[in-house]
Amino acid sequence: MAEIAKLTLDGKEYEYPIIEGSEQEKAIDISKLRAQTGYITIDPGFKNTGSTTSAITYLDGEKGLLRYRGYSIEDLADKADFLGVAYLLIYGELPTQSQYDEFVGKIRRHTMVNEDMRKIFDGFPVNAHPMGVMSSLVSAMSGFYPESYSKSDMDNIDLHIVRLMAKLPTLATWCYKKSQGHPINYPNNNLDYCSNFLHMMFALPVEKYEVDPVVSNALNKLLILHADHEQNCSTSTVRLVGSSQANIYSSISAGISALWGPLHGGANQAVIEMLEAIRADGGGVEKYLNKAKDKNDPFRLMGFGHRVYKNFDPRARIIKKAADEVLAALGIEDPVLDIARGLEEAALSDDYFVERKLYPNVDFYSGIIYRALGIPVNMFTVMFAIGRLPGWIAQWLELRNDGQAIGRPRQIYTGETVRPFVDIENR
Ligand code: CMC
Repeated sequence: MAEIAKLTLDGKEYEYPIIEGSEQEKAIDISKLRAQTGYITIDPGFKNTGSTTSAITYLDGEKGLLRYRGYSIEDLADKADFLGVAYLLIYGELPTQSQYDEFVGKIRRHTMVNEDMRKIFDGFPVNAHPMGVMSSLVSAMSGFYPESYSKSDMDNIDLHIVRLMAKLPTLATWCYKKSQGHPINYPNNNLDYCSNFLHMMFALPVEKYEVDPVVSNALNKLLILHADHEQNCSTSTVRLVGSSQANIYSSISAGISALWGPLHGGANQAVIEMLEAIRADGGGVEKYLNKAKDKNDPFRLMGFGHRVYKNFDPRARIIKKAADEVLAALGIEDPVLDIARGLEEAALSDDYFVERKLYPNVDFYSGIIYRALGIPVNMFTVMFAIGRLPGWIAQWLELRNDGQAIGRPRQIYTGETVRPFVDIENR
């Protein structure tokens, strides 16, 4: 017999079906709740609320597992390349050689950005945060591809996907070049995705730039690790905007804005800033652990804790190992790496963090690698966005293909009840 949940309200009993996922996760389907009872549910922060079913990414926060389309993050980070993983997320299967060649070939051919976008970009002040600039530029892209406004333009969706994948790295490097006062580099389509990004970031007109394979391989791994993470804040934002049938550029632009916050992708920048502050303060971690535990102090240990993981974030494990390897291969000694290790060790043996199951998350060690690759701190969250792009696209596409209803939560009103208007002289 199918499982059901029973609810008793005002003396009446109601039954709700149980939905079970392919990994035996269970949910109570309350889609008829309000129509039948007049009640809604309240769940601030959506801690218990599933907004959708999805076949893209599975994660088990208790066991510390993460899989894209059934493939473990460990296997993908070790054996795949970022564009192959992007294809997997977006189209559901690992590409065959010819599918891969076609996908990569199209992305290579779309790396240039319309020159008129430069006029929009030039209007930003030199110290504008690159995440704000990126969100604006991606939104502006819709204006260059007006066919994307049409709800029926799913015929061209593959082209929009290719454009986004191809142009986001180009736009990101504009931000960096401007901050340095250097001319922007046009893409070199002979290079692979990661090497092309590094070329646009670091090549100068005055000397030859050779991409270091240690650097491009590390970047490839980091992008794979960030590529999707089911219904997180930015992905839910992309889905919510997409559910109004807004075009894909506007939806992704909204996702970039959501990612910017320090509780989400912005944590990678906040982690390095925190580690540097600890270093400037003599390097002792105890004071900062105590600040993080003090409920009267707003300070939190950045890069620690996660809404879903109550165990090691599997991405953090891989990144920690990669940080050791990359720094050794590049011959870099970063003093904040030791501080990060000390902080992690101290937190993992501290009752406050143990009881609350707070472990290092993806952002704890990623900044140390980005910095070793020469990427400045204010570009860290942009790197996260480049990595997360295929996930956002895949989730947007799934939402549209599933024909989901517009996202429109309800509320319980707690304001004034009806009252007569008061003329200004009587207020
Ligand atoms: N430092 C100190 N205390 C913490 C931390 C932390 N980093 N994270 C959670 N706590 C405490 C929190 O104060 C609460 O304690 P109590 O039960 O006594 O009130 C308890 O742990 C549960 O925390 P919560 O805020 O209810 O958990 P949440 O699921 O709402 O928040 C989080 C998750 C990631 C926003 C939070 O852990 C945090 O602020 N971490 C630091 C920022 C960060 O690293 N963000 C990146 C997340 S991973 C990548 C991504 O999503 O982009």
